[in-house]
Amino acid sequence: DDEKSFYREKIKTLLKARNAVMVAHYYTDPEIQALAEETGGCVSDSLEMARFGSNHSATTLLVAGVRFMGETAKILSPEKTVLMPTLEAECSLDLGCPIEEFNAFCDAHPDRTVVVYANTSAAVKARADWVVTSSIAVELIEHLDSLGEKIIWAPDRHLGRYVTQKSGADVLCWQGACIVHDEFKTQALQRMKALYPDAAVLVHPESPQAIVDLADAVGSTSQLIQAAKSLPHPQMIVATDRGIFYKMQQAVPDKELLEAPTAGEGATCRSCAHCPWMAMNGLKAIAESLEFGGKTHEIHVDAGLREAALLPLNRMLSFAA
Ligand code: 13P
Ligand code: SF4
Repeated sequence: DDEKSFYREKIKTLLKARNAVMVAHYYTDPEIQALAEETGGCVSDSLEMARFGSNHSATTLLVAGVRFMGETAKILSPEKTVLMPTLEAECSLDLGCPIEEFNAFCDAHPDRTVVVYANTSAAVKARADWVVTSSIAVELIEHLDSLGEKIIWAPDRHLGRYVTQKSGADVLCWQGACIVHDEFKTQALQRMKALYPDAAVLVHPESPQAIVDLADAVGSTSQLIQAAKSLPHPQMIVATDRGIFYKMQQAVPDKELLEAPTAGEGATCRSCAHCPWMAMNGLKAIAESLEFGGKTHEIHVDAGLREAALLPLNRMLSFAA
């Protein structure tokens, strides 16, 4: 409508004027992803967002996602201005792993290598030996296991269990969860599979074990899009944030994409297959962040934390290269 096209045009003008580029996650709303594509930005998973932002020549990064993604961008590119549509876009994994408790957990197990998921605060990253995203988690844990290392994994318990099973490594796991993936329901998914016998089930490893057990493919957002392409099935039941449907449908225009069930009939859930914090990235908020920047939109990371968090983040990027 008129208001949307007004903001789209405004954002395009402001991006040019500020020498800024948009870096958006697959879970943001389709109109945000479309705008990032149209303006030469990127739409991707957490790992690619980090890589794209740090390699790009723009002087300002507009990160459409949640706060840890903005912080990661700032840590990797301190010379750039990093703006977010809102600084209140959190993540339940980040919120569920406060630094004081995490420090105590690590202190209690000094013999373990500390591996943290990208979905954490700068302070938690600063305490870690490694940062990982879901696209390289299994490979990294296998690598550390082959070196004989014992591991602390934080914060996602489902991904932690998944990488432990895959690698056979000795992993001590923090008990966090993603409020979106935690909602997928096993019996409803079994019923859906019976209704769609030709469908493949694609699952993000932040989902509970019983959901992962029903999967034909398990992986990060970008790996799930890849699986939708390579699997022969005409339909895909997708257990991750529905934001992914925008790029997945582009990748497989002839396949039918179905949302995995999140709640029984008549039930409600706070985050039915769409992250409430990702949903805070609207067109108006993006335009305002580019126009006004400042306290309400600009990401800052304490210099000491930045220096300490840069190490494990750079390790992640080199390992993934
Ligand atoms: P990936 O895009 O790296 O799979 O991460 C999923 C996620 O939950 C980000 O919030
Ligand atoms: Fe965090 Fe889950 Fe939202 Fe991703 S989808 S930002 S893991 S709460």
